[in-house]
Amino acid sequence: MATILYLGVSGQIGGAFITSFREKYPEIPITFYLRSVELDGALRNLGNTTVVHGTFDQLHEIEKLASSHSLIFNFASSMDPSVTDAILRGVRTRKSQTGTMSVVYHLSGAGNFVDNSESGDYIPTDHPFDDANPDDVRTITAANLPNGPCDELLFVAANKGEAKVYFVCPGGTYGHSERHIGRSIGLASAFAPGRWIDYMTQNIESLGFGVYVGSGTSVFGVVHVDDIVSLMMLVYQKILNTVNNYEPEDVYRYWYNGIYSEEPSKKVAAALAKLQARRGKITSFETKSVAYKDAGFTARYIAGNMLIECNNSKSLGWAPQGPDLYTTLEQLE
Ligand SMILES: NC(=O)c1ccc[n+]([C@@H]2O[C@H](COP(=O)([O-])OP(=O)(O)OC[C@H]3O[C@@H](n4cnc5c(N)ncnc54)[C@H](OP(=O)(O)O)[C@@H]3O)[C@@H](O)[C@H]2O)c1
Repeated sequence: MATILYLGVSGQIGGAFITSFREKYPEIPITFYLRSVELDGALRNLGNTTVVHGTFDQLHEIEKLASSHSLIFNFASSMDPSVTDAILRGVRTRKSQTGTMSVVYHLSGAGNFVDNSESGDYIPTDHPFDDANPDDVRTITAANLPNGPCDELLFVAANKGEAKVYFVCPGGTYGHSERHIGRSIGLASAFAPGRWIDYMTQNIESLGFGVYVGSGTSVFGVVHVDDIVSLMMLVYQKILNTVNNYEPEDVYRYWYNGIYSEEPSKKVAAALAKLQARRGKITSFETKSVAYKDAGFTARYIAGNMLIECNNSKSLGWAPQGPDLYTTLEQLE
């Protein structure tokens, strides 16, 4: 019987996905691996679950758990190759012991595809990265920061016939889901606005104003957390439909981008500054255009352009619904 090792259940995305997943698949045994303890009761109440506490420093524990599960959901660590490596060591052990190949279902991130322009201007491209084109997916390497180093390890493993790998690649994910498993117990992370919003707001807070570069017409792809969950559900169905016939080269066919809209950096800066001013984190909602070197630690996400297609995701019937970024930011406390 299939069993799942699940990383990231307390996170913005993983905590929302588990609710939809358990509704549709109530029986499959799941082992959750996380540091925090607040969700333990809710996770046990899902039935057929095990909770293991640990950190991403305990690589031997992750490897051991990966070796005893047939599906590994990594919805927690897209930027730390040591965690991916530990998962893959476990997957290889399982293959050598049972002769069967595990599935790794991995959340990457569309930060990989920012064009690294430092101008802050919109720069169109004739060839946006298309998730439905295996040759585009083949171009992803460890050089695609910040998620490429993990992605590359997974491509290599799939190519060697060690793992069957499927990717969902969200853009900047905003909003907290009403379906987050931690909501009923008031878990702080169930109400967190998301990792991308956190990076951007922390940057504004440290600079003291809303920031963009140059003309602020550069664009960044964003998506509501509930739309990423609906995409992840469709991709899981795809896993079920394809896993028995998976060939190593298929890894390049199973990459799914999740973007709802491309937002100009000047408009994003204004909305985030308004949010931070309302929260009392900065004194006014002023926005300023600055040079790339002065745009803080998220400069790459502010000045560059992320132009990508979601054709593979749409081929599954994915139709993101929003709400849009600005409506969501208005509603944040
Ligand atoms: N949100 C975005 O904008 C976005 C965009 C693209 C890609 N992604 C990727 O998607 C994945 C999920 O993102 P998210 O925003 O849902 O993440 P998140 O809200 O930051 O949640 C992170 C999860 O990882 C666990 N975790 C973090 N550090 C850990 C450690 N040292 N040891 C053990 N567990 C640890 C947390 O568990 P604890 O309860 O123990 O803290 C939590 O369940 C990540 O890989 C992220 O890079 C996110």
